[in-house]
Amino acid sequence: MGTPTRNTQRLPQYLRDPDGTHPPLDSPCYGSTALRHPKQPLVLLPQMLTEVTGPVLGPGRIGELDNDLTRQHAGEPQGQRIIVTGRLLDGDGRPVRNSLVEIWQANAGGRYRHALDRWPSPLDPNFDGVGRTLTDHDGRYEFTTIKPGAYPWKNHDNAWRPAHIHFSVFGSAFTQRLVTQMYFPDDPLFSQDPIFNSIPDEKARQRMVSRFDLSRTVEQWALGFEFDIVLRGRDASVFDDEEEDDE
Ligand SMILES: [Fe+2]
Repeated sequence: MGTPTRNTQRLPQYLRDPDGTHPPLDSPCYGSTALRHPKQPLVLLPQMLTEVTGPVLGPGRIGELDNDLTRQHAGEPQGQRIIVTGRLLDGDGRPVRNSLVEIWQANAGGRYRHALDRWPSPLDPNFDGVGRTLTDHDGRYEFTTIKPGAYPWKNHDNAWRPAHIHFSVFGSAFTQRLVTQMYFPDDPLFSQDPIFNSIPDEKARQRMVSRFDLSRTVEQWALGFEFDIVLRGRDASVFDDEEEDDE
C-alpha cells in the first residue's frame, strides 16, 4: 500500500490590478451605487477546487448564429451594421482560448428588449440584442451586430448613456466570470457619463473604447471595430463589480 500523496495542485489566487484601474465601490455621481455598495470591508474568499473546475463551457452550447445578431430573425434589424472583433488575453499577452464571450446591447434606437426598459423608443422585431461565442486558438472572438443607440436614464438631469455593448467573459468554470463594457470612439456623451467616468485612471478608461478598424471593415457590408479584453495586469480591462442597473 503506497503512502497517500498530498494534493499539491496550486490554485490560482486573486491578483489586484493597479489603483485607479477599477471604479470605487461607491461612486456618488453614479447614484445607485450608494444603495448597493458594501458598507463593510470585503472578505477575500480563496478559490477552491469547486471554483476552478467545471462546468466546462464547451462548443456544444453555442448555436451557429449566436455570434451574428443580425441573422436571428426573419428580417434584418435596423441600424448601422458593424463587426466587433478582438482578442481575450491574459496579463502576459497570451491568448485565452475556448472562453465563452457573451454580449448584450440596446437596439439602434437605444432600447433594450427588457421588461423594465419603457422609454419611448421603438423595439425592433428583428433584434434581440444578445449574442455569444467562444474564443478561438488565438483568443479571438467576432460578432456581427448593429451599432447600439444612446439611451436616457434617470441618474441625473438629462442623463444619456454613451453607446455601448456589455461584455461578459468566462474562464473555464462558471464562477470565473467578468463583466465589462465596450464604447465607441469619439462619443460626445463620454464627458457627462458617470459610469464611464467612475474609472479614475484615464488610460484605463480609454481601454474601454473600441478602435475603428478599416482592415476589419467589409466593403459594402459593415464597419469594423476592434476591442481587446485583458484579464489582469497593467493593461487590464475595467470590469464591473456587478452588472449595471441602468437599463
Ligand atoms: Fe447598458
